[in-house]
Amino acid sequence: MTDPLMPASVAFREDGTPYSVLHDDIYHSAAGALAQARHVFLEGNALPRRWRDARTFTVLETGFGMGINFLTTWSAWRDDPQRCETLHFVSLEKYPMTRADLERAFDAVIDDPALAQRAHDLAHVWPALTPGTHAIAFEHDRVRLTLIFADAVTALPALDMRADAFYLDGFSPAKNPELWSPALIAALTRMANEGATLATYTSAGAVRRALIAAGFDARRAPGFGWKREMLVGRFVGAPTVMHDQNN
Ligand SMILES: C[S@@+](CC[C@H](N)C(=O)[O-])C[C@H]1O[C@@H](n2cnc3c(N)ncnc32)[C@H](O)[C@@H]1O
Repeated sequence: MTDPLMPASVAFREDGTPYSVLHDDIYHSAAGALAQARHVFLEGNALPRRWRDARTFTVLETGFGMGINFLTTWSAWRDDPQRCETLHFVSLEKYPMTRADLERAFDAVIDDPALAQRAHDLAHVWPALTPGTHAIAFEHDRVRLTLIFADAVTALPALDMRADAFYLDGFSPAKNPELWSPALIAALTRMANEGATLATYTSAGAVRRALIAAGFDARRAPGFGWKREMLVGRFVGAPTVMHDQNN
């Protein structure tokens, strides 16, 4: 049995910044969202360099939101002459946006024409807001987007896949602790390919400790814009601490 889906409660500030009324937190700032996604998630995972050695490179993201991280990753892949054959982007989203909100958010945040075209392509195939997995393909099946409309807390531990890079992007830990629990972070390690990396804009100590306990060598790195620090890391081994999955 799957829980019924609740669409995102999106509102827009005067400057166009989309935010979640439910979480009282922004999806992306209206200015600099694309540069932030590149700095935190692409550079934080040493991309594009790392996908050049792979045939298929798989990203796993918590919190698809308006898909800015997906669109910047897709663009970087497309612009890279040494790109891997297939880019697979898997993302979990508990409160997906309606197509109308998605398009309005794109208009407010995307200032790059190539990315705007890709955003348009995504909006065009945006699935019905029904719970479960929605597989979407672009670029003649070389860019695969698997959208999982579900609560990551229950869906992530049940996922059967391997990831080369983790994008942890679920609103701030203070406002949305459920996406940053030690149990959820430990569940990632089960899916980590050898040498898998992670990046997140947060530098919260509790998140860093949970990542280290789960087997990532999480460390602070320079953040983007006003954010002094973020976290990056590589999967280096089995968890050093057992976690109670009910925590
Ligand atoms: C900061 S936004 C993500 C921005 C997004 N990565 C992008 O590139 O546009 C955080 C997202 O996490 C989602 N979220 C919050 N709790 C969740 C949960 N338990 N499971 C899955 N997604 C969740 C929110 O609905 C929101 O879309």
